[in-house]
Amino acid sequence: SLPASVRIVEVGARDGLQNEKTIVPTATKIELIDRLSACGLQTIEATSFVSPKWVPQLADAAEVYTGIAKREGVGYPVLVPNEKGYDRAREVGVTEIAVFSAASEAFNRKNINASIDESIERFLPVLERAHADGVKVRGYVSTVLGCPYQGEVPVADVVRVAERLHALGCYEVSLGDTIGVGTPEKARSMLRAVAEAVPMQALAVHFHDTYGQALANIHACLEEGVAVVDSAVSGTGGCPYAKGATGNVATEDVVYMLEGMGIATGVDLEALAQTGLWLSAELGRSTSSRVAKAIASH
Ligand code: HMG
Ligand code: MG
Repeated sequence: SLPASVRIVEVGARDGLQNEKTIVPTATKIELIDRLSACGLQTIEATSFVSPKWVPQLADAAEVYTGIAKREGVGYPVLVPNEKGYDRAREVGVTEIAVFSAASEAFNRKNINASIDESIERFLPVLERAHADGVKVRGYVSTVLGCPYQGEVPVADVVRVAERLHALGCYEVSLGDTIGVGTPEKARSMLRAVAEAVPMQALAVHFHDTYGQALANIHACLEEGVAVVDSAVSGTGGCPYAKGATGNVATEDVVYMLEGMGIATGVDLEALAQTGLWLSAELGRSTSSRVAKAIASH
């Protein structure tokens, strides 16, 4: 049955920007995050403490995290790939992190230069230290409905990685259709299979809209009982190691659909749409959010 409310995990400042070719000024990133928290979003992924050689756009992670006006009750998780990233994050007072792996061996190799098992091995000391430090850890599983390098991804591999991340202490595991190839019934059966190994309350869905299926996929997953949805304002993003992966589903579109279904999000849609329009102007392109386009044309 459908949830009464949904928590949105806004990933625009991280997933949305990580693939931008032109370096976005640090001040713009900070303003983006502060505007997003003013819209009522409770979880705003702020940046990544990954290697700047791999993701130059987020080399200013420490400055961004330090610069944002931390709002009471809002979580600002950051991506951490290894202990070096964890040290950098902790130095600036990060209290919530996300680790990431993928259900596809081939993708893991390209994204983080490791096999699935190696990537999880690499997280073990990070997870141990986070646990000892009282730092919350979210886990991501990418390529849950398809891989740009290996094609089909067996559901059993998604279940195995999600179960492992949850068993290692991730309070929530986000299931990512990194290249946006999934369709609703595939998304539903994948989620069902994972929910047999990890409680539904500990699962989130993360769709990219590459093939225009994201809202339909989210709807199918809501019917299965998922109550946490990742999205990016203005539909920005794409993964640098997933060729052709266009944007994340736009937060504006997700909020419009949820509120229209009577599912509470706590987000001020008008303010969010204005934030997305401001961001797309900063990036020099038009918004990918259909809802923001409609609101702007009024
Ligand atoms: P590597 O090259 O195999 O490892 O990278 P390394 O340890 O040899 O490090 C290379 C250099 O980076 C070294 O510097 C390290 O010190 C430095 P050098 O000695 O050459 O001067 N380095 C670091 N610097 C700062 N912070 C760090 C750090 N680590 C190493 N944390 C590594 C391995 C994991 C580091 C690299 O592959 C990496 O950073 N990858 C991140 C890639 C990434 O961010 N991808 C996007 C996120 S995943 C995603 O988008 C999917 C998701 O959105 C879900 C979905 O959409 O489905 C989550
Ligand atoms: Mg993503």
